[in-house]
Amino acid sequence: MLLLLFCAVLFSVEGCYWSAQCPYGLYSSKTPYETVRGDIRDYAVPQNCQAVSIWTINRHGNRNPGNSVTTAMKAMVNLKNEIIASYDAGRGQMCAQDIDELRRWNWNDTMDVSQSFLTGTGYEELYDIAKRIRQKYPHLLEGSDQDYYFRPTNEQRTITSAMAFVHGLTDGTNLTLQADKERKKDEVIRPYENCDRYQEDVKNGQALEDEIAAYHRTAEYVAVQNAVQQRLGITTQLSTEDVYSLYELCRFYRSWTENLRSPWCAAFTEQDLVVLEYRDDVRHYHRNGYGSWVNVNLGAAPLRDLYKTFEAVVENQSSRKVVSYFTHDTMLEMVFCAMGIFKDATPLRGATRDVNRLWRTSYIGAFSVNIIAVLNRCGATGPQSYRVQIFINEKPTELCPLEGCSWQEFMNKFQPFLTSTLDFCSRDYRVPVADSAGDFKGYLHWLVILQIILIQIWRL
Ligand SMILES: *[C@@H]1O[C@H](CO)[C@@H](O)[C@H](O)[C@H]1NC(C)=O
Ligand SMILES: *[C@@H]1O[C@H](CO)[C@@H](O)[C@H](O)[C@H]1NC(C)=O
Ligand SMILES: *[C@@H]1O[C@H](CO)[C@@H](O)[C@H](O)[C@H]1NC(C)=O
Repeated sequence: MLLLLFCAVLFSVEGCYWSAQCPYGLYSSKTPYETVRGDIRDYAVPQNCQAVSIWTINRHGNRNPGNSVTTAMKAMVNLKNEIIASYDAGRGQMCAQDIDELRRWNWNDTMDVSQSFLTGTGYEELYDIAKRIRQKYPHLLEGSDQDYYFRPTNEQRTITSAMAFVHGLTDGTNLTLQADKERKKDEVIRPYENCDRYQEDVKNGQALEDEIAAYHRTAEYVAVQNAVQQRLGITTQLSTEDVYSLYELCRFYRSWTENLRSPWCAAFTEQDLVVLEYRDDVRHYHRNGYGSWVNVNLGAAPLRDLYKTFEAVVENQSSRKVVSYFTHDTMLEMVFCAMGIFKDATPLRGATRDVNRLWRTSYIGAFSVNIIAVLNRCGATGPQSYRVQIFINEKPTELCPLEGCSWQEFMNKFQPFLTSTLDFCSRDYRVPVADSAGDFKGYLHWLVILQIILIQIWRL
């Protein structure tokens, strides 16, 4: 944090992008994993314990932009010559060297032929995470095939991420493992895909649209838009969306390594980047996060699997040593909500940016974000001798102390997910009022209370 502040000062003094000592590193959901990760190898195994099982859920690694973003980026690339011509004509406020870098810059054709595909960087991210797990827990790689289970969602970027992970986990060992076949409908790691209530009310719902529109109307977004227009000095009027497309061009082209620079980032000051970073936070909060109870409920599905996996090991019904899933930021963010973490006291709104917010996609929705749960067996036998550690991006979390939750504490937190279902996804499902804070209706509230009382009487 101190380093970030220090860098910020250096950046603003210099003014030019090319000479900034350490350019801004947080780019919401396109932040490289290297920028935000910890290192699982640096955290001690609880005293007198040994890891017996690991469960992970991973976002795919660095990927190329999808179809619509690629198209939007290319539209901005068409402005390159106009930006340079404006500079040559004495308009605009860019630094000479930043213009030179832009002059030299070319579109990368890989983006056209492999849209949404995992990149080489993405492969390395997953390979390296698994390698660090192997280095920390080498004894967990001394099992046989049935001790391991891996499954990706039905996409190239997650399937290849799973391959990278298995490669990193088994490199130099005698194991030859393969991920399970992806499922067309995966109710564990992509339950939102076939959830009508999610697709209609949340992903394509009005609230999400309204919040993004409110964000675009904020004084600070409008100020960024005007500043970029001035800085580039072009006569083509940049729309609200154009400014964000320039940001996409900036952040995708710099995401292949932690310190790579994209000349397109020179269109922005560091403060501009801070403002632009917020859009994904608002968008994801309402699309995948606490903005809807549907998201919170959808996050339960993988946690049910986590609980069942560890319970089976503790009850000696399974010898699973590593179970890993490969999915999307949407899923990871829903899981964070089900666990109740990164939850701000007040909801994130498009109209106001809380600089101290906990919900920050640069940290919770970066490429390759992950949850690693480690089941440790400690000393004596019996369930109470187990301790569970939980890491997010290879750092400890408030969910369990570094020395691990006791098995009882883990049960208290995670056993409730065992009874989770996806019934609420159906449009016929009656939503319990306590869950739907947004559309509270007085009379419905009383109806439900009456129903609860009747059920209680019936039970007697
Ligand atoms: C082109 O893009 C790919 C990612 O799609 C990246 O790995 C590669 O390094 C890029 N090439 C150049 C020359 O920057
Ligand atoms: C792999 O198997 C061979 C033969 O059984 C053994 O000598 C070697 O130590 C094993 N290597 C590892 C890394 O376990
Ligand atoms: C667990 O199962 C294994 C093999 O099925 C058996 O050898 C072992 O004694 C069992 N341990 C306990 C504590 O039940």
